[in-house]
Amino acid sequence: MKHLRSIPELGVDGIVRILNLADHMVEVNRRPVPKVPALVGRTVVSLFFEDSTRTRISFETAAKRLSADTMTFSVSTSSVNKGESLRDTVETVDAMGVAAFIVRHKTSGVPWQLSEWTDASIINAGDGWHQHPTQALLDCHTIRTELGRSVGRECLAGLRIAIVGDVRHSRVARSDIQAFTALGAHVIVVGPRTLLPPEVHTWPVAVTSDLDSVIGDVDVLYMLRMQRERMNEALVPDLGEYSNRFALDRARASRLRADCLVMHPGPMNRGVEMMVDPSDLARSVITRQVSNGVAVRMAVLFDALGEANSEVSS
Ligand code: NCD
Repeated sequence: MKHLRSIPELGVDGIVRILNLADHMVEVNRRPVPKVPALVGRTVVSLFFEDSTRTRISFETAAKRLSADTMTFSVSTSSVNKGESLRDTVETVDAMGVAAFIVRHKTSGVPWQLSEWTDASIINAGDGWHQHPTQALLDCHTIRTELGRSVGRECLAGLRIAIVGDVRHSRVARSDIQAFTALGAHVIVVGPRTLLPPEVHTWPVAVTSDLDSVIGDVDVLYMLRMQRERMNEALVPDLGEYSNRFALDRARASRLRADCLVMHPGPMNRGVEMMVDPSDLARSVITRQVSNGVAVRMAVLFDALGEANSEVSS
């Protein structure tokens, strides 16, 4: 794999390969010195044109644990503010000798555009509403590990996964649905009609606006963040009303099956979609998602940049 731009481009074999490599990276991360020389001398640049805390730090931690050199391009202090185009920015940084760009941008499709302007690997860290493939991979890895599933192509077979909330604006939902269903899970999309995309009926999912009818019968409850920064119209007339119908509150939490995993990509809107403290829930794996994110991103960088014969375990 040279680029990781979307889940469909990666395909089911690619997903399984990354998840298995991530198992190895989890082991590396447990060592007293969680660092291997796999990417010595390679430079990885993060180009984040949108705000981010966990994704950027997670990628940079992953790159450092593989001994890559890392550079961060921060838009707020860059020549983008002097009118530099995306192409000039990429070509300028590329001229310094870069092995991979990790890119986040508010416009869908930017990772594909970038790969026309540079020979470096492109890793998509979120493009608009479109894709967030490493989030989907770390979510699959978390479910697979926490539920003790097999390591093969059908590792999520038979699981019922509800994805709840603002699906319309969510690149996480789009990538997760593609990855979960590719691995055999049954996905139920739950949200108010105004926050479901018009094309949802063409997706390989069940759809409902009644969270209470499914909450007691799922293996994974995946809560999405309400993406208020992406809404340019009033899609939710009243946030309180939204929370009444779609938030995870105490009453709903008490109806979850004892072994049901609760997940959220972060950052959470407490009091909007999350009315309970996740640490009060028996099986919240939200912080596991964050720690698995580092291992999964190490696997992605190694898969894209590692030499065929280089040893991660050395
Ligand atoms: C997500 C994102 O930015 O797409 N967050 C993340 O990567 N941790 C989800 C979100 O912002 O709601």
